[in-house]
Amino acid sequence: MNEQDKKPLVIAVPRELDDLERRVAVTPRTAVRLRQLGFSVHVQRGAGTRAEFDDTQYAEAGATLVDGLEELYAGADAVLKVGEPAMVPALGRHEVDLMREGTTLIGFVWPAQNKDLLARLAARKVTTFAMDAVPRISRAQKMDALSAMANLAGYRAVVAAAEAYPRLLSGQVTAAGTVAPAKVLVIGAGVAGLAAIGAARGLGAIVRAFDTRPAVKEQVESMGAEFLTLDFKEDGAGAGGYAKEMSQEFLNAELALFAKQAMEVDIIITTALIPGRPAPKLITAGMVESMREGSVIVDLAAQQGGNCALTVPGDKVVHRTVRILGYTDLTSRMAIQASWLYSSTMVNLLEEVAKGGSLQPNLEDEVQRGALVTHAGEVTWPPPRKPTAQDANVTRDKPLPPKQPDHGKKAEKPASPLWAVAALVVALVVGLAAPPSFLGHFTVFVLSCFVGYQVVWNVSPSLHTPLMSVTNAISGIIILGGMLQLTNEFNATTVLGAVAVGLAMINIAGGFLVTRRMLAMFQR
Ligand code: NAI
Repeated sequence: MNEQDKKPLVIAVPRELDDLERRVAVTPRTAVRLRQLGFSVHVQRGAGTRAEFDDTQYAEAGATLVDGLEELYAGADAVLKVGEPAMVPALGRHEVDLMREGTTLIGFVWPAQNKDLLARLAARKVTTFAMDAVPRISRAQKMDALSAMANLAGYRAVVAAAEAYPRLLSGQVTAAGTVAPAKVLVIGAGVAGLAAIGAARGLGAIVRAFDTRPAVKEQVESMGAEFLTLDFKEDGAGAGGYAKEMSQEFLNAELALFAKQAMEVDIIITTALIPGRPAPKLITAGMVESMREGSVIVDLAAQQGGNCALTVPGDKVVHRTVRILGYTDLTSRMAIQASWLYSSTMVNLLEEVAKGGSLQPNLEDEVQRGALVTHAGEVTWPPPRKPTAQDANVTRDKPLPPKQPDHGKKAEKPASPLWAVAALVVALVVGLAAPPSFLGHFTVFVLSCFVGYQVVWNVSPSLHTPLMSVTNAISGIIILGGMLQLTNEFNATTVLGAVAVGLAMINIAGGFLVTRRMLAMFQR
């Protein structure tokens, strides 16, 4: 290894250029984590000020403070940002042009809306991971910055609505009279929508929700809201955990539903979105005018044009006493937690990318490939589409190509009958040789191995946690059985009994630990 190899890779954290952006890409806490991962962290002075983190905290976390952006980018192997790179008015240069060739950039890039920026990044040979393009799959949850932010935004939307709404959200029975609870309609029950439902329910409102994906009905109902339905069959579920664009007929039916709801509800929170598309217009001016005086609309989709026809992105407008909030910086209004959550998702992605000891992306990895939008001078967005069940149906209709000989590759074989024969032989030998008292135990042992295997391997991973409780009960029985075998004598039986007790105890302790963590997720 030469001297160059030993130098830690430098991560640069700039001050965000947008005045509305209060978040910072790396907090002092994540700076410590980055250093533990072997990176050197360089932070532009004042980068965290708007998120309440001052330079001293970064210095205490071991980060190097740098004055200017030019100097910061000139020494960086990777740049971690919140907003997409833009022109730096003070320097009259674009941020991308300040980066070195081969720099890795991680941040929100919005590739569908920023084709020119992608071309610029590719020309500069920047390897770009767009946090907004991380696929929404279970394995990538810890890197899902959009969900982390939308969750906060959904909550903050309710807080903003409650502040703008000139009445109570919860119902009250007082000596002076009874106040009915406010009615809240949430349109789009994705991450932000579900968080909004939870927050509005928490404040005592009656909540209704609608989504084009019927699959979310149960989630909505489990949070105490009513799921509205349409008498129209069309599933809105699309690829990658997101929604698909609906037919015009469906949208017309939806508009009729919302027109009716607008006359009944006090607050509408709209979050309807199809990634990469302008937000569907779901609340017309007429609907706004039909709402009760003092009603509130919070349009979370404002950045994509808004779900409401009267939304002004980034602003609050009042139309005939109805307040329409088109704030696009709701997460930024909770900058401390938003920065920490965002930086955690980024560092999780960086950790995956840096597994090989460099910042070379692994193109075989679904998450990295999904987020990679420029690499080696090329625009690599959108990623190649994974074949869907529909594609499989199409290919099934086509004649199959002739089979190629499979050189060196392991062919998938059906389970060998040899195993069954071997098992039978072992059972026969044991049956002939062993004493009858042993045979009963042996049969139970073989059956429990079989059942255990089937239970663990055939249960979907999402059910493994509840399964843990069942295995804990089984482990309890094993401990009892093992303890019954423990005597003063030292022989094979006592040793096996002790081993059984030890292993079962590990299982039980692990089970309790996992259950504790799971319960902690639901504690307030
Ligand atoms: P998501 O993709 O999880 O949820 C969007 C939901 O809208 C999906 O469940 C989808 O099925 C539904 N939908 C799509 N078309 C619909 C239609 N025609 N009618 C009813 N439902 C429909 O998205 P997520 O993460 O919840 O974000 C929601 C919105 O919040 C996005 O527009 C996002 O940009 C915005 N957002 C806004 C922030 C702000 O400060 N204003 C901050 C963070 C997110």
